Amino acid sequence: MALSADGEATHGIAPQILAKIRVREEHRFRERRPRSQQLHAEAREHMPHGVPLHWMSQWGSPYPIFAERASGARLTDVDGHSYVDFCLGDSACMFGHAHPAFTAGIAQAAELGASYMLPTRDAIAVTRELSWRFRVPFWQLATSATEANRFALRIARMFTGREKILVFNGKYHGSVDETQVELRDGRMAPQHGIIANGVDFDRTTRVIEFNDLDALETALAARDVAAVLTEPHMTNIGMVPAAPGFHDGLRRLTREAGTVLILDETHTICMGPSGAIGELGLEPDMVVLGKVLAGGIPSAVYGMSAAIAQSLESITRGPGINHYGFGGTLAANALTVRAIRVALDEIMTEATYRHMTTIAEALHDVIAAQIKRFSLPWHVSRMGARVEYLYQPSVPRNGGEAARARSDEIELLSHLYFANRGLLLTPFHNMALVSPSTTLADVRAYDSVFSDMLGEFTQSPVPHTNQHQDHDSHI
Ligand SMILES: Cc1ncc(COP(=O)(O)O)c(C=O)c1O
Repeated sequence: MALSADGEATHGIAPQILAKIRVREEHRFRERRPRSQQLHAEAREHMPHGVPLHWMSQWGSPYPIFAERASGARLTDVDGHSYVDFCLGDSACMFGHAHPAFTAGIAQAAELGASYMLPTRDAIAVTRELSWRFRVPFWQLATSATEANRFALRIARMFTGREKILVFNGKYHGSVDETQVELRDGRMAPQHGIIANGVDFDRTTRVIEFNDLDALETALAARDVAAVLTEPHMTNIGMVPAAPGFHDGLRRLTREAGTVLILDETHTICMGPSGAIGELGLEPDMVVLGKVLAGGIPSAVYGMSAAIAQSLESITRGPGINHYGFGGTLAANALTVRAIRVALDEIMTEATYRHMTTIAEALHDVIAAQIKRFSLPWHVSRMGARVEYLYQPSVPRNGGEAARARSDEIELLSHLYFANRGLLLTPFHNMALVSPSTTLADVRAYDSVFSDMLGEFTQSPVPHTNQHQDHDSHI
């Protein structure tokens, strides 16, 4: 946590300034969003926190903004405000809201019936495409990345006959019980901020810091770890890139230990049409990918090596066992598979990523320039279409270091400040995601609000370098 007990400035910002600005911003938020307030009051009658998913109440605002509609990188709320959306459904709509290709594909598929418990031709096209993009030959579908990670872990356990998994400190792979653990003073402890889930972590899990190959070698030495589950670069505690040589070491050590290497590309798919696996030439045993694949409708895929696929087939061929023990009635429904096919054929192309990367580079540069201008001890990183800043001067080497470079107080107020000026940022992060519809004008809008905010946070207003305008006359 950022704030020191005596109220001194941490991460370059004094807490008493933040407290003052928060009062003003909350007032401004309430004044301009009466309809959202009214709907939230109604919603509280039947939903805890007044939202259908409790994360939706965690935007730093006094109550949630109720959404009306969205298109491309723009979202409109029930009070008529229009926002430039850098959140994009927390990545689910990374390719833009209501992308015309998705809308047409989904509408067409819906007319043919949504779900049959039978395969369609689309599934062949989709899995063929995934195989060459992500370098594993066999695939199954799930309804969320959480689910796909759970299934992948279960397969790895079955394949190796081992129970333990290994994850890196500061990771997030969805609501997967045995990963809800972290390092505290060098020891495993239940994940900070999550209601304890009763898992016996000593039995199920090992946690080490990312980029620490010595610790990995030690953790795998007993040859009792079924799987290492990791993102290629960490993205959920701020952005922590893999150090040079880390992936080579990770691959070598997991192979030597007979441990399945599962790469979770759910966020790193922002790096290119084949994710980090394509960009870095990685060789996983299993791959998980969710969120972005079907234009915002639930979808995920998980891939595996031929050896793992063969073992699944041979186990279920024997007498008495005909079921992996997991699956899902709605997984691989025809409508979702069509949407994934549309994504792979028409949207997740080199050209799409070129645009996203160019705009993200521009966003990175304006954030870097403002941090420098206000002499803040912060840094900004970019990973493909994802841009995020953290409250420390250098890029963190691991999750523990990244966790110390965060501040709930500054983050939450920043989100509120931005929302009040017509820009949505991903909650739980300082992250801005760029879509194919995001423009340089959107970047300039970010720059202008960021400059004003830092001027206020540091109490050093600086003349604008560009013309600031709120995005919507209502705001
Ligand atoms: C890397 C990673 N894996 C898995 C998930 C879980 O995704 P979902 O919440 O869609 O199940 C997330 C969610 O943020 C994620 O960041």
